[in-house]
Amino acid sequence: MPEALRAELGVAPAAILAVPAEPAATADLAARVVAWQRVHGRHGLPWQGTRDPYRVWLSEVMLQQTQVTTVLGYYDRFLQRFPDVQALAAAPLDEVLALWSGLGYYSRARNLHRCAQAVVLQHGGRFPDSSQALATLPGIGPSTAAAIAAFCFGERAAILDGNVKRVLTRALGFGGDLAQPAQERRLWELARALLPAQGVEAYTQGLMDLGSGVCTLRRPACERCPLQDTCVARRQARPQDFPVKTRRLKRGRREHVLLWLRQGDRLWLVQRPDTGVWAGLWSLPEWPADEDLQPRVAAWPGQGELLPTIEHALTHFDWTLRPLRWTWPQDLPVADQQGLEAALPPGRWMTPAQALQLGLPTPVRRLLSSA
Ligand code: ADE
Repeated sequence: MPEALRAELGVAPAAILAVPAEPAATADLAARVVAWQRVHGRHGLPWQGTRDPYRVWLSEVMLQQTQVTTVLGYYDRFLQRFPDVQALAAAPLDEVLALWSGLGYYSRARNLHRCAQAVVLQHGGRFPDSSQALATLPGIGPSTAAAIAAFCFGERAAILDGNVKRVLTRALGFGGDLAQPAQERRLWELARALLPAQGVEAYTQGLMDLGSGVCTLRRPACERCPLQDTCVARRQARPQDFPVKTRRLKRGRREHVLLWLRQGDRLWLVQRPDTGVWAGLWSLPEWPADEDLQPRVAAWPGQGELLPTIEHALTHFDWTLRPLRWTWPQDLPVADQQGLEAALPPGRWMTPAQALQLGLPTPVRRLLSSA
């Protein structure tokens, strides 16, 4: 057992009862994960079998909060368009967002683009070769930096994303409240202490594979886990109690009207601001549902209809979107046309085909495709 871990486990005052009580839980943990990964883990994914940091970085960013099966539909297409970091750095952000469209969490795409530019401008087009330096780049947090460094350079760096926190806190019976920075730091220290001397690539991949396919949030498949004999949470029959995190995200609700304004074969799209939900994507104009749109549209020519409501869940809130489809006649007098357009949020007319080429939020893409 690594010294740091032995020291930590050896101390058992009340203040750190949250520390795993049983050294057995940590003995050979890494070796068991490595052996398991080699036989039962995932192999042959498009981003495995390469040590090219560009490809590994791209996969790790895409895989943040996103399942492998979803990423598979995007990864190769993205690489075909942007085969290297120079191509990505030189591309317009709109094009990056368009290829990201549907993967969600668009700040990742914006940071991806910024990171590519930083690699080109500040590092001569080569990714830095340590987790510490990688973690200074936009959109690369400590866990992603460690994953890239482990996979590309064999660096003994610890990962600790949400899935891995679940695996380790359960296996070790780590009951510290991860809402507290001190407890989070302790878990990082334990994660580092558990790293194997060799085989960090398989170990890192193994923890990820366990977290996504075995040690799942609900109904973990303990009978398939290489840590089942010593896992504290399993022995206590309470996997659902780990990890402990008291400060729960309080989900909010929002409700907006989405204006789908059409005229001839074109529709009006707006580009969303650089920050906030769907940052930088093109979308339909929206109004808070409690703000009365009636007086505005009552004066409009043409006709409209309310379409079925869309319920969309984002990280921090549930969003109710009420699409209002309105069609202006094509042959409006110029002055009327200009007056009406001036009252719209700044945007652009485009055909549905042009719109579908852009980075659109998934529900909006679906809505427009339904026509
Ligand atoms: N989640 C984050 N990185 C991953 C990877 N390399 N393989 C599988 N799942 C992951």
